[in-house]
Amino acid sequence: MAGQKQYNLIVAACKCKDSLGIGINGTIPWKLRTDMKFFSTQTSTTAEKDKKNAVIMGRKTWLSIPDKFRPLPNRVNIVLSKTLSECPAGADHLCRSLDHAVKLLSDPPVADGIDVVWIIGGSSVYKEAMESSLCHRIYLTRIHSQFECDTFMPEIDTSKFKVVSDPAVSGERQKENDIEFNFEIHQNIQHTSTS
Ligand SMILES: NC(=O)c1ccc[n+]([C@@H]2O[C@H](COP(=O)([O-])OP(=O)(O)OC[C@H]3O[C@@H](n4cnc5c(N)ncnc54)[C@H](OP(=O)(O)O)[C@@H]3O)[C@@H](O)[C@H]2O)c1
Repeated sequence: MAGQKQYNLIVAACKCKDSLGIGINGTIPWKLRTDMKFFSTQTSTTAEKDKKNAVIMGRKTWLSIPDKFRPLPNRVNIVLSKTLSECPAGADHLCRSLDHAVKLLSDPPVADGIDVVWIIGGSSVYKEAMESSLCHRIYLTRIHSQFECDTFMPEIDTSKFKVVSDPAVSGERQKENDIEFNFEIHQNIQHTSTS
């Protein structure tokens, strides 16, 4: 299904009751510059200089990105929607389903210019990606503070994903604006590649 591409998921989630909260009222409940930089670096960095990474997101996540940061630069922006009739201004592709996006990214000519594919939310897109065989790694920024949320990250299946360490990503607890957080990497145990 996924061709040769590596698919990773990236999310920042806080404690919210017994769940992992990711958003409220169409936005993110916290401000963490360190995490925004982490997101930007992870999703933009490519192993091959002449390629770009792709980011796949649901329609509401696309709309949640402030105009001035949209489309996410140096990445191929793919928006999922069954209701939009045309690709949102600034985005590169509109896809009707995750499978449609995967097919687009697997076949030439689009596939030729893409390195890693990043699933960047929201809830249902994360869920579908985590339940498929697609997802190699989940990059989770775990925020230890509580924030009110109305959008949630589905639970990570610990029989399928195990926490791994990567010298390129510090797992140490950090603090910004009185918010404590750490970066975690959960890797699909069925995938043998280490990065
Ligand atoms: N903390 C984080 O890391 C993070 C990351 C991302 C987003 N967020 C937050 O999460 C919220 C937005 O997420 P959300 O879960 O509400 O919405 P979302 O997943 O971004 O968007 C939902 C919409 O996307 C389309 N969609 C989703 N899956 C699809 C599929 N498989 N095929 C076709 N279309 C699909 C549908 O659009 P149509 O209705 O047009 O069919 C659906 O209504 C915001 O608050 C945002 O700030 C947080």
